[in-house]
Amino acid sequence: MMSRLKKVAGKDVEIMLTGSVARGTNVRGNYDIDIFLLFKNNISEEEMEKRGIEIAKRVIKKHRNETYVMKYAEHPYLMLNMNDRGITVDLVPSFKIKDASERVSAVDRTQLHNQFINSNFNERLRDDVRLLKTFLTSNGIYGAEARIEGFSGYLCELLIFHFGSFSNFLSAMASLKLPAVLDIKNNSRIQGMQADFVKKFSKDFIVIDPVDENRNVAANVSSESLSLLMLKARKFLAEPSVSAFYGSKFSDVDSKAQVRKLGKELGLDVYVLAFKVPDIAEDIIWQQIKKMRKRIEDILKQSNFAPELSFQNISDKFGVISFFINPMSCNSKKIAGPQIIMADSVDAFMKKHRKPFVFIEGDKIYSMQKQAYKTPDELLKEITGKKIIEVPSYIKKEKIYFYKNRIPEQHAKILNQAIKTKLLWQ
Ligand code: CTP
Ligand code: MG
Repeated sequence: MMSRLKKVAGKDVEIMLTGSVARGTNVRGNYDIDIFLLFKNNISEEEMEKRGIEIAKRVIKKHRNETYVMKYAEHPYLMLNMNDRGITVDLVPSFKIKDASERVSAVDRTQLHNQFINSNFNERLRDDVRLLKTFLTSNGIYGAEARIEGFSGYLCELLIFHFGSFSNFLSAMASLKLPAVLDIKNNSRIQGMQADFVKKFSKDFIVIDPVDENRNVAANVSSESLSLLMLKARKFLAEPSVSAFYGSKFSDVDSKAQVRKLGKELGLDVYVLAFKVPDIAEDIIWQQIKKMRKRIEDILKQSNFAPELSFQNISDKFGVISFFINPMSCNSKKIAGPQIIMADSVDAFMKKHRKPFVFIEGDKIYSMQKQAYKTPDELLKEITGKKIIEVPSYIKKEKIYFYKNRIPEQHAKILNQAIKTKLLWQ
């Protein structure tokens, strides 16, 4: 692929292998090949993107069953699928830079990451990165994408470099105190000034990119992923075993019955909204569905039907949102009004809420209000019909399937995967 690109690209374009393959940190069966097309900084961003994508398209060999998909990060890039070999290659146009201060976009940093890792790594560190990636993958927290919110490949490399080995890293995570700021370049943990960094990056686990002090490489790590890692590290160190390393596997056979059983065991009703999603960037769809789920959750809470558990998942072009809610109905709800000293507001409140019951408690005025939706069923069914919430434009409201407790296998499977990902031990 490198030689194909070199043939097609002009002399002014440097073709560079990057990512885990260039650094010897890739795990067999679970990596992609990342190739950068590096342009000199004397052309515009648009020109660079256009030329880069043109070159990338010219190396695709259709007769060898190679196809491509355009991807859009901060910049467009091309994902080439060598279908017969089961290999994907990301072809990424970018500017050639020597220092992070020259960077135009985030992808420009990748070439600098290459230099840092390759000049600081030996074979043992590379192997330990592979161990770490596998450990994280088994626990569902490898990758910075929205669905996972875990540890990226580059972050794994930096953590192994910083702690010196996989086992040192696990010990450090087992007793990690937050906030923690790792200054990779100076190979130290920053003490005493954590608050400044927490403010700067709005995170309490911070790994400063050795090639760019303004980037927290751990920015996408959620507190859930970090907490899970801490717990799994403790468990593994207490009982180092193959099964603790790989985590437990679960079966999704007859998910319908599994989900039903869990609902019954907990005494909660299982509600599911299922809908088709298009084949566009998963990160974007995942975030939009998360937003939609949170909005529905808020409305449920306002109506006294706060879900005890809430899940989302995407698989096979289907999106699923699910809530586990205590069986209940709610006829009236207490609404708090202003303090009595606020004369005008109290007047307005009384005008609006004359019926059926207005009263004082402490220094405030209250009113009892009839519930518009008396059960979670009524409310959730309405979401599929009327305009209670905004949904992403590709989701057709009339095509949102609604289920309670009896979930068809196809959708139950998607939900079950999300449940099992969240479950700690089985
Ligand atoms: N990169 C980055 N930030 C991201 C994604 C990627 O800085 N959020 C850079 C890193 O230098 C990374 C490279 O782009 O190493 C390639 O990205 P990717 O293929 O996602 O990661 P790899 O390190 O190659 O890991 P894997 O083995 O999973 O492919
Ligand atoms: Mg890669």
